[in-house]
Parts: sequence; C-alpha cells; structure tokens
Amino acid sequence: MASVSRVSISILLFLALSSISSFAVADDAAEVPVEHVLTLEASNFDDALAKHPFIVVEFYAPWCGHCKNLAPEYEKAASALSTHDPPVVLAKVDANDDVNKELATKYEVRGFPTLKIFRNGGKSIQDYKGPRDADGIVEYLKKQAGPASAEIKSKEDAASVIDEKKVSIVGIFSEFSGEKFENFIALAEKLRSDYDFGHTLDATLLPRGEATAKPPVVRLFKPFDELFVDFQDFDVDTMVKFIEEASIPTVTLFNKDPSNHPFVVKFFNSPNAKAMLFLNFSSESIESFKSTFHDVAKDLKGKNVSFLIGDVEASQGAFQYFGLKDSQVPLIIIQTADDQKYLKPNLEPRQIAAWLDEFLAGSLKPFKKSEPIPETNDEPVKVVVSDSVDDLVLKSGKNVLLEFYAPWCGHCQKLAPILDEVAVSFANDADVIIAKMDATANDVPNDFTVQGYPTLYFLSASGKIEQYEGDRTKEAIIEFIQKNKDTTGQASSLKEEPTEQESTLKDEL
Ligand SMILES: *[C@@H]1O[C@H](CO)[C@@H](O)[C@H](O)[C@H]1NC(C)=O
Ligand SMILES: *[C@@H]1O[C@H](CO)[C@@H](O)[C@H](O)[C@H]1NC(C)=O
Repeated sequence: MASVSRVSISILLFLALSSISSFAVADDAAEVPVEHVLTLEASNFDDALAKHPFIVVEFYAPWCGHCKNLAPEYEKAASALSTHDPPVVLAKVDANDDVNKELATKYEVRGFPTLKIFRNGGKSIQDYKGPRDADGIVEYLKKQAGPASAEIKSKEDAASVIDEKKVSIVGIFSEFSGEKFENFIALAEKLRSDYDFGHTLDATLLPRGEATAKPPVVRLFKPFDELFVDFQDFDVDTMVKFIEEASIPTVTLFNKDPSNHPFVVKFFNSPNAKAMLFLNFSSESIESFKSTFHDVAKDLKGKNVSFLIGDVEASQGAFQYFGLKDSQVPLIIIQTADDQKYLKPNLEPRQIAAWLDEFLAGSLKPFKKSEPIPETNDEPVKVVVSDSVDDLVLKSGKNVLLEFYAPWCGHCQKLAPILDEVAVSFANDADVIIAKMDATANDVPNDFTVQGYPTLYFLSASGKIEQYEGDRTKEAIIEFIQKNKDTTGQASSLKEEPTEQESTLKDEL
C-alpha cells in the first residue's frame, strides 16, 4: 500500500514541479460570455449520455487548483467544438457534491480533475489522455471523435497521423478487408486514447523505411531507439502486448519537454525497479554517460529494471523527494517496488555496469533519506530522524508516541504545544517517550503509513504499533498512553541487547 502511494507521489513531484506548459493559467475566464460546457449531475447524467453519442465529462472539485486552471481552457475548447461535425460535447460534474458522489464512485474517479470520454450512450468509456490547453483539447478530441484509425492517402495524411514526438501505429495492407484488417481496426478502437492510428495501401507515403514493408504489416513509429518496428501477428491481444512493450524507451528521458511526460508516466507505472541517472544536461561530457547507460539498459533487458535519465535542472521535485543534493550529481538512484532505495553519488560512466550488477546480486546497502542526528535532544518532545528511528523508537523497548509532521502544516503547529504538555506530564516516567519526525525530510519506516499530517502512531514497549486516531487534546492523548502502555518489566524480555552506541544515544534522552 504505502509503496504504491509513494510511487505515485513521486510521479506527481516529477511532473508537477517541472514546468508543464499545458497547465498554464489562463486569465481571461471572465471574458467568456456563454457557457458551452454542460453542467451535469446525477439526475440528468444518463439522459445526457443517451442524447450525445460523443461526450466528454470532467469530474472536478471546487477546491482543486488544476480544475480551476483547466476551466477556461475547457470552456474555450467547448466553444470551438460546438460547431464540429459530428458533434463533440463537453460537460462537467461537481464530484465533490454529495448528490454526485455515487457517479464519481461508479466511474472510478480517484483524483481531480478526471476527464472521461463516453461514446454510444456510455457503452464505451475511455480516459481522456490529451493535453489541457484549449488548442490541444480541440485537436485531441477531433481525432477521438473521428474514426479510430485514419486512412492515409497522401503524405499530408501521413504527417497528421505520425507525430515525431509520439508513438503512432500504421497498418499497411493490400486491401481494407479481411480478418487482419478488422483486427487492426479493433485494436485501434481499443487503444485510441493512447496512440494515433492510421492505415494505408501505400507504404511509400510513410516517412521511414518504405521499401521494407511487406503488407499486411503493423508498423509502430516511435521517437526513440530504433524509430520504427514492424509486427505481423494480427491477433488483437498479441498486438496490444507488442505495442505496450515497443512503446517503452530503453531509457526514458526526463527533461523540461512536456512531450516526454507520457513516457515518464509509463516509467513510473511500471512494476519494475527504477534506475534513475541524474545528470546536469548543460555540462560537458554527458554523452559518455548517456551511451554507457543506454548500453547497460540494453544488456539488462528482461531483468525487471526500468531506466531513466533525468536533467538535474528539471528534477528538483525528485531531488527533494529522495533527499538528494546537486553536489551528488552525477548520481544513480534505484527505487524498488517495495520502496527500498539505493544510491550511488558522484559516479563515473565506467562504474555504472558494475554497480547495477551489485544491485541485482542484492549486495548493496539501501539508502535512506535522513536529516542529521541532532547533537542535543533535550526538549520534552524528542527529535527523531531516519538514522535514529531504530534506536530511539523501533528498538527502544519503550512506549513511544511518534508524530509525523511537515514543517508547513498548520494542524501540526497547533498540536506542537499540546504534545509538549503531554511530554512534560510523562517526564518522570522513563518508560514513555513522546517524539516527532519531519516526514518531509526523512524516509518514513515501512512500519508506518503516513498519508497526511500530522499522523500519530503509538508503539507499546512490547512492540505493538497502532495509529492514534483519538482527539488531539492533552487529556485524550495522556489517557490513551496510560491505557495502552506496557511496563518495561514486560518489555525487557523482548528487548534486544543494546549495543554500546545505542545506549549512548538513549542516555542522551
Ligand atoms: C549545470 O551546469 C551549468 C553549466 O556548467 C551550470 O551553470 C549550472 O549551475 C549547473 N546546474 C546545476 C543544478 O548544477
Ligand atoms: C520479472 O518479473 C516477472 C513478473 O513479475 C517474473 O515472472 C520474472 O521472473 C521476473 N524476472 C526476473 C529476471 O526477475
């Protein structure tokens, strides 16, 4: 659970903190006179689906910033599309409103805004995966409203299907009939929200490798690696699998160019371990890094590791998330599916292969983000960091109330004096510790799940861990600790023998 949510947090940090131009705020919302976007709710939702064979629905929440940024662009797009033939209708639903909560559940709305395309009275539903600026929305929806695969009869047609920065798929046939052609169209229907599809009788209209195509063949164009690949098995599921594999770059590129972001999202959605090489793209001598990393990635195909090269200038969100410093660049960090991390700072190209071999052999020590262990720790509430959480909390053999907080969190600031008072009231009880960890500057151990701030956990001396979800008052917290704490008599039998260093640290308390 925790690792899944952390991985998706890291996608957000990568993308949200880098410049996504399509999220740009438009400031002329007030000038739009007529509403072209339909407002729907539970009571008229099904009627709207029945009436409009192609309708896009935005599920939004009034407090969501990205929704507010999208609103004027969405309205402009709705206006531009209002005269489109066949009709393309844009609608919105306030998913935060109680009357619409069932709709949001039914359509699996998990974040805001969520946009979905409903076709044929809702018989076919797809996620909207296009841009979020007015022109981008219009262009994407025009394609979505047309046939799933566009016939290519000229070089211009080919250019409109095959975008140099995206993956696009063209079926080359000697006739537009038969099972293989029908399967190709079914494939296009299935994956149309992810890729652009075309079909042609004339391979010479296509931009690359004309002479080699022997119809029928599926040709996948991509902006990386070998630039196009051919495929001749026309079974739909086999084609889907082929496309999914062929559309992942050997090494995903992360920089400020938003056209790479779909590949970055794929990278993070993969269940593989993720090896990320961060470089300063404006410094010299990065070419040997790039080509070595690429070679290593090719050699390790099939080992369940995905590879990314990131420009440090675009990756400040990731650096903050992992607790990395610019001075450690060039560096590789690996994040595994169970959220272990491994770090090799200041490395040279010739060390890459050997270090990854060590990772695969399981001989590397995990890396933790941690603030330094404080030299003095004599306030009533003890400061805990990643590097001291074993000694002070997990293996302390004491009853510990541990707060995970964020420096910017208002509720945490309100709780701070209360925790101080609680700590003072237990000052004479050597079995009880009140502690806090800045969860933005330290990796949270896997024993805890922190999804909001503050999060309070109680660990009894005998090792029982539970989240404290009672009132955040001095009285309630004290009562809870009194009721749940173990005496050290019970605990000492379970306690590990302290090492010398541990006892020194404990003495500091
Ligand atoms: C990257 O390198 C350029 C040129 O050497 C330098 O100006 C810039 O500060 C570096 N960026 C970082 C984040 O180190
Ligand atoms: C990679 O992952 C797949 C699916 O989880 C698994 O079946 C396979 O054994 C793994 N391969 C390696 C080399 O670990």
